[in-house]
This record gives sequence, structure tokens and C-alpha cells, in this order.
Amino acid sequence: LASLEVNLSNIEPGATVTVKWRGKPVFIRRRTESDIKLANTVTMSELRDPQEDSARVQNPEWLVVVGVCTHLGCVPLPNAGDYGGWFCPCHGSHYDISGRIRKGPAPYNLEVPQYSFLEEGKLLVG
Ligand code: FES
Repeated sequence: LASLEVNLSNIEPGATVTVKWRGKPVFIRRRTESDIKLANTVTMSELRDPQEDSARVQNPEWLVVVGVCTHLGCVPLPNAGDYGGWFCPCHGSHYDISGRIRKGPAPYNLEVPQYSFLEEGKLLVG
């Protein structure tokens, strides 16, 4: 399937769900107010792959990223690491709550796939 429809209504604030899209995991994180604040209090010059949070989300409440570490392709663990986002156990890359690389060997932020919001509570990935 090229596109995948995801029902968002059962995802609690602060939770991350993993769906499979084109054979890859995609993380969908329903961010809390404090997650959103944290994602926006980062100095761009501190980032290895500088990107504003606003350039990575369509709706600040929802972060959608491909769950493949940009180092060597392991699947990072949600709600882990030093920056409130993901931790890749393979070689220790830490991603923040916007999926941006903050520490460890990964060169790039987690990729943002193509997606769109359908009617209330539905997301279309792809
Ligand atoms: Fe994730 Fe190496 S594959 S840190």
C-alpha cells in the first residue's frame, strides 16, 4: 500500500504509536504542551541538522517521523534518551521531541514522511 490511514483518536497525549508504512516504522507522537514548548526552545546553532520544529510538523500536537535511525538504520526507542524523544540503542544516538539529532553518531534528523490530515482524527501517511 502506498498510503496508510491512521486513526488518531485513541492516542493519548504524550504517547507514541508505531505504524508500518512501505515496510518502515513510522512514529506518531501526540505531543503535550510541554513537549511542544521543549521542541521550540532550542537554539538552532546547537543543532547538527538545524531545523525549526515548525518546519517539521503540520500541527504542533502531532509529530510524524520515519522510525529509522539516520546512522545505520536501527529503530530508535520512543520516550527515551537525554532529550525527551528517542534513543537509538545500536550506537547511542539521542533524538529530541521533534525527532532532531542531538547527540551520538547519527548525521541527520529523523525523516519526516509525506502525510496529511484527513477529517478530524485521521491521518494519511504517504
Ligand atoms: Fe542508530 Fe547507529 S544505527 S546510532
